Amino acid sequence: MLKELRSIPRPASIRYREGTFQCTGLPEIGGDPCFRRVAGVVKEQLVQDVRAGDPTGGEGKRIVCTKVPDGEPEAYRIRIAPEAISLNAASEKGAYHGLQTLRQWILSEYTGDGFSLPCADIEDHPRFPWRGFMLDTSRHFYTVPFIKRLIDALSLHHINVFHWHLTDDQGWRLPVAAYPLLTEIGSRRLEHRRRGRYSGGFYTEDDIREVVAWAADRQIDVVPEVDLPGHASAILAAYPGLGCSGGPYQVEDRFGIFEDVLCAGNDGLFHLAASVFDTLSGLFPSSYVHIGGDEVRFQRWEACPKCQKRLEETGLKSPKELQSWITVKLTRMLEERGKTAIGWDEVMEDTEQYPLPPSVVVMSWRGTKGGIQASERGHRVIMTPETEGCYLDFRHTEDPEEPGQARLSTVYAAYSMDPVRETSCEAAIMGGQGNLWSELIYAGKIAEYMVFPRICALAEALWTPPEVKDFDDFSRRLPVHQERLDKLGLLQYRGALGKDQ
Ligand code: ACM
Ligand code: ZN
Repeated sequence: MLKELRSIPRPASIRYREGTFQCTGLPEIGGDPCFRRVAGVVKEQLVQDVRAGDPTGGEGKRIVCTKVPDGEPEAYRIRIAPEAISLNAASEKGAYHGLQTLRQWILSEYTGDGFSLPCADIEDHPRFPWRGFMLDTSRHFYTVPFIKRLIDALSLHHINVFHWHLTDDQGWRLPVAAYPLLTEIGSRRLEHRRRGRYSGGFYTEDDIREVVAWAADRQIDVVPEVDLPGHASAILAAYPGLGCSGGPYQVEDRFGIFEDVLCAGNDGLFHLAASVFDTLSGLFPSSYVHIGGDEVRFQRWEACPKCQKRLEETGLKSPKELQSWITVKLTRMLEERGKTAIGWDEVMEDTEQYPLPPSVVVMSWRGTKGGIQASERGHRVIMTPETEGCYLDFRHTEDPEEPGQARLSTVYAAYSMDPVRETSCEAAIMGGQGNLWSELIYAGKIAEYMVFPRICALAEALWTPPEVKDFDDFSRRLPVHQERLDKLGLLQYRGALGKDQ
């Protein structure tokens, strides 16, 4: 039996007591009816995890969930006593997180006919409200079963946001009824490297509803991203009239940053955005929509008469400044639909005439500078700096045999990520996120290898109070945790963690 209750992220406090909780089979999960949904989801997870036939076990031992009248929604307390485990939480979120911590311990301890845990009191709560993970489903397409399995594993670590990157130059994955060619044409690309075959795919409305419901059951908010006005080759291939030159365009099968972007002088951009935002509003209950805004190239706007006319209308001086005007318009359109815009940190490069609306949340990826500036200007911020362990498509080590981009992002770097390290406006920092861009990640198994265990390190960086966050302690818990992830069938990196680099 575990002498120590080891989990990731590390809980805020564990106090051991005398005695042992022993259970034959799996425990029943009961208590307040308001936790019935959470109890049902976790019961199914446990049965799957240990492949046991009878979820209620032989001895009628129980996890009893009680709703407490107030308290942080995501916090929980657990008492493990010889006769039962009791869990207190103020909301479904707290109850779910507490049950995931227990799930980790049960995953380690279950031996085929039951498990034992040492008696203890556990108190736990998150450090940051935004603990995100982004999956790029454009550069390579991932199936719904893969995404669901990944979301389930993320939720084991108290990750609470799945940022779904749905569009990019290499493929459009969102069905939009008013613009059928976005998926008919924009979701498929020729793969020269695969003997000229088409590859790609898109999610149906039912697929999206299935993922959103699955994630909601696991207390994860799904935030869709539609990247505008750059990274738009797939849109242009489908609707060439939306570009400055009129094309011809293709859904890109190269990776990089491309000069063809949506024409800033064509109102069609906003007609498209209106239909896309209506679609997103119907499918995603999240109050956030990510509008991208990264890596926009301005050469086409410089040469385009329609964009020049727009410059005159808006009173702006250079084509580059048109992005600020577009961002303001897109933000307002989302506000009309009750949604808050998130943008990559380039949206900070605004203008006096069209300042970034204060409601826009800035996602800082080119280091932390943009995020710090944004927080000082009163914006809410999510830190996901590529320089500090948040880019999960970078290699785990310098070894050229490792998959991923030829840049380094160690487990240690992910663990050391601290969203508020340099800012004087801590309250503005919502948290952080790990991103899996997928240019080089062409299969789900490789995606798992890139994600685990770096996301475990990031999850602890975003959840665990700084007083008990400790890399050496994490390194001791990690092997136990990786065995759990093995049981869930996840492929993982297991080499050097990078502390000495
Ligand atoms: C990004 O990595 N282009 C946000
Ligand atoms: Zn133009």
